[in-house]
Amino acid sequence: MEIKKVAVIGAGVMGHGIAQVAAQVAKFDVVMLSRSLSTLEKAMGMIKDSLQKFHKKGLLTEDQVKETLGRIHTMPLSDLERAVSDVDLIIETIAEDIESKKNVLLQISKAAKPESIITTNTSSISITELASLISKPERFCGMHFFNPPQLMKLVEIIKGARTSDETINIVAEVARKMGKEPVIVKKDCAGFIVNRILMAALNEALNLFWEGIAERDDIDKACELGLNWPMGPLKLLDYIGLDTALAILEVLEKELGPRFKPNQILKQMVRAGFLGRKTGRGFYEWPQPA
Ligand code: 3HC
Repeated sequence: MEIKKVAVIGAGVMGHGIAQVAAQVAKFDVVMLSRSLSTLEKAMGMIKDSLQKFHKKGLLTEDQVKETLGRIHTMPLSDLERAVSDVDLIIETIAEDIESKKNVLLQISKAAKPESIITTNTSSISITELASLISKPERFCGMHFFNPPQLMKLVEIIKGARTSDETINIVAEVARKMGKEPVIVKKDCAGFIVNRILMAALNEALNLFWEGIAERDDIDKACELGLNWPMGPLKLLDYIGLDTALAILEVLEKELGPRFKPNQILKQMVRAGFLGRKTGRGFYEWPQPA
């Protein structure tokens, strides 16, 4: 089956980057959907900024920038039925909340053509559980990108209990077409590979900070210089979004036990609206575009 047309549901931190890579690298026709028109506008602004960065480095010509933008269309989520009815692959990227994901996936499954493949960019939620909403669970799997999707090479492809091998092979090929390296997660388990390792480390950094063992900058510096991480764990939490990190840790705690219990500072910061880069403040201050 050849994938030509892709729908990306959600236009947030991950959705806009995935839509961009699908149009820019794989040259798919892309429709990106969001509940709010202002989110779609902001997403297109971020895509333009990112394409300009590639252009300034000589990696994309002006024509390629224009062609990429020409391949990305936007639609409100209220038009979901119409948007997904003729696409080959759907990538759901909405917030990491199981009920919202179930609701959207049910709508997608009802509207999508029978031979289409449906994927979710969940960070931690069970693929098998989400598949229960899909009329053809053999054509559903996890497709987990990393932030920023424009630069990060990995895509985890997660097999649910009923996902077919054919679906895994098609989605792995799509990831390669998008310039990514796929890895296959054979058993559906919370956090898959990367988040199971990463979230344990990030939560431990929060514990160190909460216990007053070291200052923010020293915790980050230690991992940057001692482990060669491109950014320290507290900065990375800001980058991922503290609400997203909390949601992932809560799933991991529920599924894998108290070793993943989120440090209370994370809950407090989320309640205070300090979500990291996307709201301008988390562990660091992040200047917002005008
Ligand atoms: N599009 C295009 N280019 C971009 C870009 C974008 N969206 N964002 C950054 N860049 C480019 C910049 O222009 C810059 O180019 P230059 O070096 O030629 O000037 C280069 O990337 C580096 O950017 P910055 O100087 O702004 O910042 P950094 O040097 O810190 O790099 C980073 C940014 C690539 C994000 C790097 O810090 C990094 O790799 N951080 C770790 C990211 C990570 O771990 N991601 C995984 C998170 S976990 C996850 O996503 C899973 C989820 O389920 C939670």
